Formats: sequence, C-alpha cells, structure tokens
Amino acid sequence: MHLRHLTLADFRSYESAEVPLAPGITTFVGRNGQGKTNLVEAAYYLATLGSHRVAQDAPLVRAGAEQAIVRAAVMRAEREQRLELEINPGRANRGRLGKAPLGRPRELLGAVRTVMFAPEDLALVKADPAGRRRFLDELLVARQPRWAGARGDYDKILKQRNALLKSARGAPNRAAVLESLPVWDTHLAQVGANLIYARLRLMQDLQPYLATAYEEVSGGASDARTTYRSSLHGDLAQTIACGEVPQVEEIESAMHESFARQQAAEVDRGLTLVGPHRDDLELRLGALPAKGYASHGESWSFALGLKLAAFTLLRHDLDTDPVLILDDVFAELDAGRRERLAEMIGDAEQVLITAAVGADVPAQLTGATFEVVKGAVHPR
Ligand SMILES: Nc1ncnc2c1ncn2[C@@H]1O[C@H](COP(=O)(O)OP(=O)(O)O)[C@@H](O)[C@H]1O
Ligand SMILES: [Mg+2]
Repeated sequence: MHLRHLTLADFRSYESAEVPLAPGITTFVGRNGQGKTNLVEAAYYLATLGSHRVAQDAPLVRAGAEQAIVRAAVMRAEREQRLELEINPGRANRGRLGKAPLGRPRELLGAVRTVMFAPEDLALVKADPAGRRRFLDELLVARQPRWAGARGDYDKILKQRNALLKSARGAPNRAAVLESLPVWDTHLAQVGANLIYARLRLMQDLQPYLATAYEEVSGGASDARTTYRSSLHGDLAQTIACGEVPQVEEIESAMHESFARQQAAEVDRGLTLVGPHRDDLELRLGALPAKGYASHGESWSFALGLKLAAFTLLRHDLDTDPVLILDDVFAELDAGRRERLAEMIGDAEQVLITAAVGADVPAQLTGATFEVVKGAVHPR
C-alpha cells in the first residue's frame, strides 16, 4: 500500500501542510527542528494511533490550537481510501473512514500500516522491557487490528485488579476486600493468556525474518535471536524460554497458579506481578544478551533488524507492503550499513525518509525530494 496524500492541520509545528506522495522513495530534507519528523509522525499516528515519541496526545497539537487533524489518502491494490483523524487532547479523538464517522478511532487501525525505524528504536536494545513489549504488541495490531481491543481490555482489567490490591493493602478487613479478587484473576488470566500466546506465535513467525535481516544489515553475522522471558512461575516459563508455544489453556492455568503463589506479595505492593505487562523480549547475539553486551553498531543493527523483520513479516502476511518510514537513521549508520539498508528497501512499495543532510541518503535511493523549512514543505 502507499499514501497518495497527507494533510496536516495544527499538527505539531504545522498550521497546515499538504503533501502529495507517490510510490517509491520520498525523502524529506531539512535542518534539525524544521518539522521533518513531525510529518512522518503524523503518518505513523494514523496507522497506529500512537506516537513513537510521546505517550500523550497533547504535544501533537500545535501550541495554542485546540485540536489537530491528520488526513490521508491511501492506495491499496488500485483502490483509494480516505481517512481522517481528529486529535482532541483531554477528549475523545474522532476518526473517519471515507465519509463515514467511526464509533471509535480504533476502527481506523488496519487502513494504513506502517513500520517506522527511528533513532528512538535504539532503546529497543538498550532500555527497559516496556519498549520491547510495545514492539511486539504494535506488530500484533499491525498484523491483526483486533488485538488492539484485547490489549485495551487487558490494561483496563489490570488497572482494576491493581486498584483492588491497593485497597486491600490498607484495609483492616483485608479478606473481605479480597473476596472479589478471583473474578479479576479470571478475567486477567483469560485475556492475558491469549495475549501471551499471540506474542509467542508472533515471535515464532518473526524469528526467521530477524535472522535474515540481521545478517544482511550487519554484513554476515547471523546470530540474532529472541527469547520470551515470562513472568509466570513454575515450569511453563522455562518451556516458553526454550521457544515452545504452549496451549492457551496451559498459560491461563499457569497464570492462576502464579496469582495464588504471589498473593501476599501482590497485596503487599498493591500491584499485579504476573502477566504480559511484566514480561520481556530478550534479545541475544549468539550466547550473549544484546543489552549490556552488544557494541553500538551491533545494537543499531539489531534494532534495524527487528524493524526490517517486522516489515517482511507484514509484507508476507498482508499481501501488500506496509509504508516504511526511516526517520533520520542514515546519519546514524556507517557507510556499509547504509548501503546494505538501501539495497534491502529498494523494492518496497513506499519508503518515507527524513534526513538533515541529503548526502547521507545513499544515491541509489532516488525518488521525490521535499525540503522542509520552518514547517513548510516544498518539492525540490
Ligand atoms: N505541539 C507543537 N506545537 C508547536 N511546535 C511544535 C510542537 N511540537 C513540536 N514542535 C516543534 O517542532 C520542531 C521539531 O520538529 P521535528 O519534526 O522533530 O524536527 P526535525 O526536522 O528535526 O525532525 C521543534 O522546533 C518543536 O519546537
Ligand atoms: Mg527529526
């Protein structure tokens, strides 16, 4: 698929912008702070309903404005679809598909699919598990948008279970407060087990693409592996770490078992200590964890490998290419990695690239170029 047009109104630094787009490579060039990332962030937001830079919506709305609007025309197999998203911080966002207003913005998911690679992705390798969980869940949703609902349900149930644990902590009649805990256990174990199962299946499908992508990016090394580190107690966590995918029912009952074993600690801390929100996707190079061991270049290759693997997985799954976004990454890569990356993405249906220095983008990636200056976008 590809974007044929992107329109921004009061999004980030843009009062308004109209950007016509074509298949192939499009490069946005401009000095730092001119609004290049803001543009691709808008496209990414339409696809994922999230930003790769902020967790809240408020910074996405131009300072002084009430709401931001992002519109796009998407082409998939010769068919055009128009979509629109109104971002209203503090109030519900609104989505529109064609002429029809949507009940909830979530119904937009799937209309545009993107894979973005940005400097922030180095955190996938170097930082906390939260970013890696997000990588997995975002890819689940890009593959099958219905997972956004399950993900949302899980967070809601988790919040309520945590609230109950917290109120039990201080209550004199602790046992009475905890009487309703089994209900939340049941909900959380059910949704949580499905989520874990889906992540494991996803990782199984992703692994071969990751090995290939890492090998290509790094120029020969082919030892990139992932391991799911489950917060479950008992043998099942070990089974999962060995790369096996248990039945959903097994995961569900292991969650119940873990709740039972952990109850004292959970009440003590007022927190749910078991479940997909406590799990990690461990990245390894050969026998060593990437985090803490990989060199800077290896870390970049791993993060890039994960994203390119996600791209290839979606390409095979969806029977169309997601829009590939490369935000300010060529400057971070050495000449060899640049060239190899350019070769790998040459046949993608649409690639949106941002760069402060045009010369950092390999010459073979020819296509449309726009200059971005102070929030204005001009074709070059
Ligand atoms: N909500 C906002 N309102 C107004 N300006 C914003 C907003 N969010 C970001 N900006 C401005 O956008 C600029 C950064 O744009 P960005 O696209 O990240 O730059 P770059 O071209 O380096 O990628 C900064 O000058 C920042 O102040
Ligand atoms: Mg930028």
